[in-house]
Amino acid sequence: MSDKPLVILTHPLPAAWIAPLPERVRLVVGPADVAGVAPELEPYLAEAEGLLTWLTDRVDAALLARMPRLRVVSNYAVGVDNIDVAECTRRGIPVGHTPGVLTDAVADLTWALLLAVARGVFTAAEDARAGRWGLWSATRWLGADLAGRTLGIVGFGAIGQAVARRARGFGMRVLYTSRSPKPQAEIALAARRVPLAQLLQESDFVSLHVPLTPATRGLIREAELRRMKPSAYLVNMARGPVVDTDALVHALRQGWIAGAALDVTDPEPLPPSHPLYHLPNVIITPHIGSATYGTRERMARLAVANLLAGLEGRPLPHAVNPEVFRGARAA
Ligand code: DGY
Repeated sequence: MSDKPLVILTHPLPAAWIAPLPERVRLVVGPADVAGVAPELEPYLAEAEGLLTWLTDRVDAALLARMPRLRVVSNYAVGVDNIDVAECTRRGIPVGHTPGVLTDAVADLTWALLLAVARGVFTAAEDARAGRWGLWSATRWLGADLAGRTLGIVGFGAIGQAVARRARGFGMRVLYTSRSPKPQAEIALAARRVPLAQLLQESDFVSLHVPLTPATRGLIREAELRRMKPSAYLVNMARGPVVDTDALVHALRQGWIAGAALDVTDPEPLPPSHPLYHLPNVIITPHIGSATYGTRERMARLAVANLLAGLEGRPLPHAVNPEVFRGARAA
């Protein structure tokens, strides 16, 4: 039997992106189209020392209990809400993720969606394609201005700040919420920290960039949507459950807000029959915030670096529970 450690990739990634792995480890790769740890991976769980997961895979206590030799979990995402990090930490297992490399891609898509929903780009394009162009019109396909308007950014980490940086180019005023003040970013980006209620009341566009945690699950419900201006738009680039989906449908139908652009939904995938698809003032994309060639490759390289570091007992380049290593050093 080989002395290389066994590593499970829950789903395939292009060979060039994970280049060093096959030489260093024995790889078992799950299917592309089954969420979570597919049944065919079960026989390998007991032996696996490394696990490379996608955001659609649940890594919980039950799975960890079946993986007694596991030494590292490497998530192919910046968000780790799919992983029971506390349980991993309790077991001394470092959890890696991929911050930084996807910041610009996600910020870019935020603006693509914000502009598209504000200007009704998809409706207008569909009308043109379907022969409904007619004579140039002064009053059809009207949208919202951006310059001089207020953008409210909920969550002012790297992605929120990258969104704010782009807002300067559009001549917008920026408000933000965050658990702690960010004085340097505030000055550099001319942004002002306000309570969520004030941000919702004053913003013409509200863009969500918080991680999904118990504190942010259902952050935007009926009460928050009612606080927004009827002319305001909601953009969700964070995680679907940050917004109460039923409340959002209701808000859009009742005209509490003008529209929504969602790169993430609850559930995912959103079934084709879902009412959100049938509202004209909603744009939905299938969780593609980080989906550029370069970004997805950089994410894979970082995930591999995290994985190999964990297998070698070194601190991960990006761990969400670095205390695992402090504990190991102290022991
Ligand atoms: C992440 O990394 O958390 C994004 O949602 C997907 O790239």
